[in-house]
Amino acid sequence: MKITKICCIGAGYVGGPTMAVIAQKCPHIQVTVVDLNEQRIIDWNDPNTDNIPIYEPGLSEIVAEARGRNLFFSTEVEKAIDEAQVIFISVNTPTKTYGKGKGMAADLKYIELCARQIAKVAKENKIVVEKSTLPVRTAEAIKSILDNTGNGVQFQILSNPEFLAEGTAVTDLLNPDRILIGGDTTPEGEEAIKALVDVYANWVDKEKILTTNVWSSELSKLTANAFLAQRISSINAMSELCEKTGADVNEVARAIGMDSRIGPKFLKASVGFGGSCFQKDILNLVYIAKSYGLNEVADYWEQVIIMNDHQKKRFSSKIVQTLYNTVADKKIAFLGWAFKKDTNDTRESAAIYVADDLINEQARISVYDPKVSKTKILNDLNYLETRSVEENNLAVSTFASAYDACKDAHAIAILTEWDEFTTYDWQKIYDSMHKPAFLFDGRNILDAKKLESIGFIYNGIGS
Ligand code: UDX
Ligand code: ADP
Repeated sequence: MKITKICCIGAGYVGGPTMAVIAQKCPHIQVTVVDLNEQRIIDWNDPNTDNIPIYEPGLSEIVAEARGRNLFFSTEVEKAIDEAQVIFISVNTPTKTYGKGKGMAADLKYIELCARQIAKVAKENKIVVEKSTLPVRTAEAIKSILDNTGNGVQFQILSNPEFLAEGTAVTDLLNPDRILIGGDTTPEGEEAIKALVDVYANWVDKEKILTTNVWSSELSKLTANAFLAQRISSINAMSELCEKTGADVNEVARAIGMDSRIGPKFLKASVGFGGSCFQKDILNLVYIAKSYGLNEVADYWEQVIIMNDHQKKRFSSKIVQTLYNTVADKKIAFLGWAFKKDTNDTRESAAIYVADDLINEQARISVYDPKVSKTKILNDLNYLETRSVEENNLAVSTFASAYDACKDAHAIAILTEWDEFTTYDWQKIYDSMHKPAFLFDGRNILDAKKLESIGFIYNGIGS
């Protein structure tokens, strides 16, 4: 089977970049990305590709090359499903906010809607690919819906989890560590797997394309994210110990990272991990373990989240304590709001929770982030429902430059590790602030000695 037409449902952080790269690397395949959200599609079709709705280094150039050639963005979901041989499902799977599994399980309502829509529209055999991170055995549910509500056509369900990290999505997609494809071990399943392998083989070495059964593929994605998040919580746990004992967590990370069995990556102590995946996937894992009665397994993984929440709280508490136990009416400048550098995504960003704590203490927050708008920042805070929209509006102001955000501030908090923060004229910032001028570096990116010589009272993580 040779794939010539692909449809992707969901034009978000996963669907958009992934399909752009497939289209760029496979000019012989027509790729259509559809979404219910009309504005999102209008933005993806913006004549100026610098205005596409997702900021990722290198992405706008790829969209400029492929869009209109073999890459299309559309709201005509049914038409795209009808025409495609392969349908990727890349819709969001947030943590449930209601009913059984509230706060833990993944909400699969968007996935189910997609499955029902595919079943309704499909008049020919199709391959359906799960791209969103999903709880183990979701493929079974999708298959059941497709087989029971479809028009008698055959569906092959593949799990093809996405391992890209935001901020480096394009390079991760172009040079993946591996591509994982899970499918049925029947001849039809194997044919479907092969068809998808052939798509990726247009630019990825065959040795890097792993094929497994569906369940292994689904569980591998949750496991990878759980292990990565666990490393961050582990180093963050050590950061608190370092602060008490006089050790320096950066030195500890460097020393242990040189052990080839441990390795140097993902050992950067921080104000806490954010992003749409880690917390959601671990909660998911915890929920699955509990549902099988595996309470020790569930508790083990839940501790990664508990530690992360503690790290965020510890950061805001430290700011309050250091500022003589009160931040009421004080201006705290936030540099960075995104959950990591080089993205405009703010989902589960530590900044949201730190700001929430400080606003509870009646601080005024001034934010500068090179890619995040005020609307997004306020939406993030309003979503927590801690206080009224008007109160959040009064408490938060945003600025187009870091220098303006920091002017007359009592303290600065670095929440995201944007490179530009290291290039600033810190003397100029210091001169414009209230004294003593406090700086809380939640990412350990600044030169502590240099800042202290200027006069700042510098607080990093884990030293
Ligand atoms: C993650 C996985 O890395 C990716 O494989 C998966 O497909 C989706 O989830 P992402 O959330 O986009 O990707 O970014 P990642 O680089 O993993 O960072 C997640 C969070 O951890 C960020 O808030 C980041 O700042 C933080 N982090 C990361 C640390 O605090 N310390 C580190 O050493 C690494
Ligand atoms: P992710 O990070 O997983 O890509 P996003 O929230 O960025 O998540 O993107 C998911 C997209 O899926 C959203 O733009 C949303 O509008 C879209 N979506 C959700 N359900 C459907 C559906 N049934 N049909 C089409 N698009 C959908």
